Amino acid sequence: RRTAVLAYPFNGGQGRAGVELGGMHLVEHGILEQLKEMNWETKFSANEDLQTLQPASDEDIVGLKKPRYVSAVTKRVAQQVSDAAKAGDFVLTLGGDHSLAMGTVSGVFDAYPDACLIWIDAHADINTPESTESGNMHGCPLSFVMGLAGEISEFSWIKNCLASDRLVYIGLRDVDDAEKKILKDNNIKAFSMHHVDKYGIGKVVEMALDHVNPNRDRPIHLSFDVDALDPSVAPSTGTPVRGGLTFREGHYICEALAETGLLVAADIMEVNPALEDEQAVFQTVQVGCSLTRCCLGETLL
Ligand code: ARG
Ligand code: MN
Ligand code: MN
Ligand code: MN
Repeated sequence: RRTAVLAYPFNGGQGRAGVELGGMHLVEHGILEQLKEMNWETKFSANEDLQTLQPASDEDIVGLKKPRYVSAVTKRVAQQVSDAAKAGDFVLTLGGDHSLAMGTVSGVFDAYPDACLIWIDAHADINTPESTESGNMHGCPLSFVMGLAGEISEFSWIKNCLASDRLVYIGLRDVDDAEKKILKDNNIKAFSMHHVDKYGIGKVVEMALDHVNPNRDRPIHLSFDVDALDPSVAPSTGTPVRGGLTFREGHYICEALAETGLLVAADIMEVNPALEDEQAVFQTVQVGCSLTRCCLGETLL
């Protein structure tokens, strides 16, 4: 099997420098060799020229920061992800910040219209241009691909490709009030850390799949924000929140999804090697690599 490994050195969806280095740190840590060791043929793109897509001026649009840069980059992401998926490759996207998911989701659902999306995160990332308090587009990607963001000509390339019953969250614990209303109004299924505590991760993954993939026949796209993990497990990330997934809970999710045989794409997002000390960075990059290997089929036995 072949995997297209797409690294995007992009930080324009949020305000903290360093997250653009995340993907290349996983590569320098050896993720490509590790995947080859697992018998994957790897086709790697570093996308080192992303900055050429940054416009000279990029005024806020309805409070959204760097909208044209985010749009231009994620449009490229969507094209590359779609091409790779249509070629039959497993699409592994290494961020970069989570606004990149506007592109990954657009690309995966272009290639696999009947796919479902499993979003692992402390945050819901479903703010609209009107509801976002920060203006950071890494808090907004889902509203764009679900047609909740309204008409903005700069983002007119984005299709309403994700139905509300094809999305499920695991790990939430820092959801804005406006986002809670969006989740309720659109009947979107979410398993917060409360549910992980209550049912255990095994049951939560099963219930999540029962919701978005009841017959276990839809392709699965996993979008994993490393801030879903507890900050003691993945400290080097821009918006850490206490009370997250343990090391094993995070890995279990990836293992269980790989085990379905339906996983076609995975995003590993928001590793920021510029934050915290050297030991914390090593730990976060290492966990990013091991989550990735689990997505591509590494097992304990
Ligand atoms: N809800 C907050 C916002 O919209 C935080 C989003 C954090 N997102 C992330 N991908 N880390 O700004
Ligand atoms: Mn997050
Ligand atoms: Mn908050
Ligand atoms: Mn996120």
